Amino acid sequence: MSKRAPREIELCVTDLMPDGTGVGQLDERVVQAKNALPGELVSVKVLKRRRGIWYGEASAPAARAGWSSARIAPACGYFPRCGGCAMQHIDYAEQLALKQQQLTRALAAVGVEPENINSPVQGPKLRYRTKARLGVRVVGGEVLVGFRETLSNRVARMESCETLIGEFSVLLKPLRQLISSLSDPTRIPQIELAAGDHEQAIIVRHLELLTEPDEELLREFAIRHDIRVFTQSAGYDSVRMLSRHASRYLGYANVDYGLYYQFLPWDFTQVNLAVNRLLVRSALAEFGRPDGGRVFDLFCGIGNFSLAAASLGWSVTGYEAAAESIDRAVMNAERNGLSGRCEFQVADLYDPGCELAESADYLLLDPPRSGAGPNLATWLDSLRPRKVVYVSCQPASFAADAAVLQEKGYLLERVGVFDMFPNTAHIETLGSFSRSW
Ligand SMILES: C[S@@+](CC[C@H](N)C(=O)[O-])C[C@H]1O[C@@H](n2cnc3c(N)ncnc32)[C@H](O)[C@@H]1O
Repeated sequence: MSKRAPREIELCVTDLMPDGTGVGQLDERVVQAKNALPGELVSVKVLKRRRGIWYGEASAPAARAGWSSARIAPACGYFPRCGGCAMQHIDYAEQLALKQQQLTRALAAVGVEPENINSPVQGPKLRYRTKARLGVRVVGGEVLVGFRETLSNRVARMESCETLIGEFSVLLKPLRQLISSLSDPTRIPQIELAAGDHEQAIIVRHLELLTEPDEELLREFAIRHDIRVFTQSAGYDSVRMLSRHASRYLGYANVDYGLYYQFLPWDFTQVNLAVNRLLVRSALAEFGRPDGGRVFDLFCGIGNFSLAAASLGWSVTGYEAAAESIDRAVMNAERNGLSGRCEFQVADLYDPGCELAESADYLLLDPPRSGAGPNLATWLDSLRPRKVVYVSCQPASFAADAAVLQEKGYLLERVGVFDMFPNTAHIETLGSFSRSW
């Protein structure tokens, strides 16, 4: 498609894909279009063809046709070109219904029937995103800093963002100016953003050594915008803080438990801190009152769930592959006076040879998109936990793991969507399983 002008077609949209794109057929060819809703007849610009499927973007209703009544005006002027959001054009209640429908469809496909489906839990719809990885490109001498465009490697031309927290949205323009002022903007491919409750940080990735004047410009930027500036020349072990802040750490509180977590900008933390609090509270409520049993927090990160459970009186062991996150979990346990009730271990939980301590009465699972991995059945057989609380960021892997749990005699008592990423197609789920024997 690259050399030819994009082809415009007319598409009758019949369904919505899990990624938020509308889908229909043209002469028996499947076409997926962003910014298109079921029931609409739209004009689509075809941007990409892959394995027989055409992908594009709807620009307007076709002649004499209208938009669907489920459509709303996007909150952001860069939709649908910017690839950061997929559902800005869908009424929010409808977004939640679609996410719930995807979850229940995924479970039905593997024969798992939840006893109860909770209503979706929601937080702020905009200005919630505390983390992002932005691309940087120089196009015709102009520096662009933003999310990738839909169906392309290009960087969106954007000067604000409705999903980023306000402190980051207003930074997009100054970041463009900052990169333009560096000696070679083409050697800066990416900027990462990370924020805690009160501090923000950027990590500037650079492919060539930064000059002394470049570093001075970055330090001035840090002072002007009161932000921690880190530079990164290779992997995360090459990150160093350039700005002269007393501490490298960012932090967030979980007021429900009187906890404060510290982390470094590249550690995994949940992107939507308001929904995270609701998620932690709901997950721990599933365990009930501490009864002397032991909790294993698998894929524990910096101790987000572990510390909250320990503060309630549970004894917790957290497992996690990233050694740096485990360092942070230990530090956070100490700082919050919980070391006596939790311990943490570095472990590759996908490794079939990975060994956990011998007994756990409760399991909390919060794996990456790929799911709990090949050891789930073994853990259930050897630990025989009474309850398994599963936090998922991918309905298909959650459903596959739910089927394993069901086969081992666990009932899915409750399940529900937590809208961690409004206006995008991401689906966060909390499921609570109980041993039925
Ligand atoms: C969705 S995050 C959850 C983190 C934490 N529970 C939280 O709420 O912040 C998934 C975590 O799994 C970790 N992880 C990824 N692959 C892993 C593996 N093979 N073994 C153990 N942990 C892994 C990641 O480093 C990340 O911290």
